Amino acid sequence: MRAVDSIVKKRDGGELSAEEIQFFVDGYTRGDIPDYQAAAWCMAVLLRGMTHREASDLTLAMARSGDTLDLHHIAPFVVDKHSTGGVGDKTTLVVAPLVASQGLPVGKMSGRGLDFTAGTLDKLESIRGFTVTLGQEEFLRQLTEHGIVVAGQSADLAPADGKLYALRDVTGTVESMPLIASSIMSKKIAAGADAIVLDVKAGKGAFMKTEAEAEELAEVMVAIGRGAGRKVAAVVSDMNQPLGYAVGNALEVREAIDTLHGGGPTDFREHCLIVAGMMLLLADKASSLDEARSILVRSLDDGNAWHKFMEWIIAQGGDGAVLEAPGLLPSASLVEDLPSPQAGTIAEIDAYQVGRTAVLLGGGREKKGDPIDYAVGIVHHKKVGDQVENGEPLLTIHANDAGKLEQARRRLLSAIRWSNEPVAPPSHTHNIIR
Ligand code: URA
Repeated sequence: MRAVDSIVKKRDGGELSAEEIQFFVDGYTRGDIPDYQAAAWCMAVLLRGMTHREASDLTLAMARSGDTLDLHHIAPFVVDKHSTGGVGDKTTLVVAPLVASQGLPVGKMSGRGLDFTAGTLDKLESIRGFTVTLGQEEFLRQLTEHGIVVAGQSADLAPADGKLYALRDVTGTVESMPLIASSIMSKKIAAGADAIVLDVKAGKGAFMKTEAEAEELAEVMVAIGRGAGRKVAAVVSDMNQPLGYAVGNALEVREAIDTLHGGGPTDFREHCLIVAGMMLLLADKASSLDEARSILVRSLDDGNAWHKFMEWIIAQGGDGAVLEAPGLLPSASLVEDLPSPQAGTIAEIDAYQVGRTAVLLGGGREKKGDPIDYAVGIVHHKKVGDQVENGEPLLTIHANDAGKLEQARRRLLSAIRWSNEPVAPPSHTHNIIR
């Protein structure tokens, strides 16, 4: 078999056999197939798509490209969640400790920023000392001792996805349903959780631009997970405007801290309560989403979720002083409000443009391996449906470069669409697939 034959077959709309997919995944993982052939293969998949059978074979080949964890000697039931990627999506920072505070172990492998979406690992690394690089033994020890662990993809687990993820980020091959589904589900299957809640985003700031595409992705992933013997549910939610107010690594950590203290933006808090609630439901820790919600709200109010967050961050090497005084998080040298150019109602905040602006400021990667500026980003003050006066601050830009600040200002102004009529705030949760 030759890699080029699979590329040509897929380029011409053919269906790859399980053997061809396995050959490609194994060859790329070992380094026998170079990045340029893998990039061409991903582009062919993006343009031609895959059948559900091909996506499932790709998932299993990637899950088996390294070790797979069995966590049952540590805990009878471990839960996990995964987002398909959005702008301002700091959900894991709140949901993981919130769920773990209920005595339900959360073992999670997260990713880095991908294209215009930022990644949980980059956010966590903005906390001084925090390490996301855990070997298998440390991952398991942390889960046993603290009931919560969030780590980067270790080289041993789903290494094929680790390599492909970084390649897709810089080759315009992220927005492919089978590549996203197999990337997410291979990690989840390899990491050993019994139950997985998929946080599937739909809209301009997501890889799936329409609700219908997001639902299809959710259904494909739920089917792959069930086929692999896991309990899986998916929450399909809106990503046309950024989630919460903050976009940018350290800025999002601050917003997560506020939320864990019982505050935070309403849309973000609600989203966390739904995702965490579904995790409790799958683990039979609640019999309805309403019951789960009251359990979780109590944990936010009585400080349990916050204490679990502190325990987790410190156990992974993070500096507890930074959490108690978030002013110690990386901060930008240029902080400037963007005044509204007019009075009116906000009809749209284009989350894709906001995400691209965060990357432009240095908060994401333009090419594989680029360093990240944790301090930069955007803090919105208004959401869709809000009325604004002329000159009122719409958002605050955090930058470390005057030229980039100027570009960000222009870009963010064009990301906002106005209406003279009242605009209803968009509904946040579209669907829950169980
Ligand atoms: N998240 C992942 O883990 N993989 C993708 O391809 C997209 C989002």
